[in-house]
Amino acid sequence: MSTTTRLKIANYLDIPEGTTLPFEHPSLKRPLLLCRVDGEIYCIEDNCSHRVFPLRDGDLEGFQLRCPLHGATFDVRTGEATGFPAYRAIKTFPLHIDEDHDIFVDIETDPEPGRISIGNL
Ligand code: FES
Repeated sequence: MSTTTRLKIANYLDIPEGTTLPFEHPSLKRPLLLCRVDGEIYCIEDNCSHRVFPLRDGDLEGFQLRCPLHGATFDVRTGEATGFPAYRAIKTFPLHIDEDHDIFVDIETDPEPGRISIGNL
């Protein structure tokens, strides 16, 4: 049986408008990517669904994040693939922000010590 743990991943003030911030954790198979658009923070997996390639160096134009390798685009609000050559969505994750502007994500911890996951990341 797994349990849910809330993990602090950043502070809102660390992410300027229109930028992204990667988050890595030793127990996650793949990093997460925080994206700030119009004052809101969105959390996606930092991995293009076209090939295994990080999105962190891609251009963020409005809600669209462009993969730096072949140019696929994704809507950071939904993870939807919005531009060729990707056609599969990427994962998105709900966030919690406290009164100190700290940003948290919920992770699942399974009974195997030291192994955590968010969804199937
Ligand atoms: S790896 Fe991202 S578009 Fe090809």
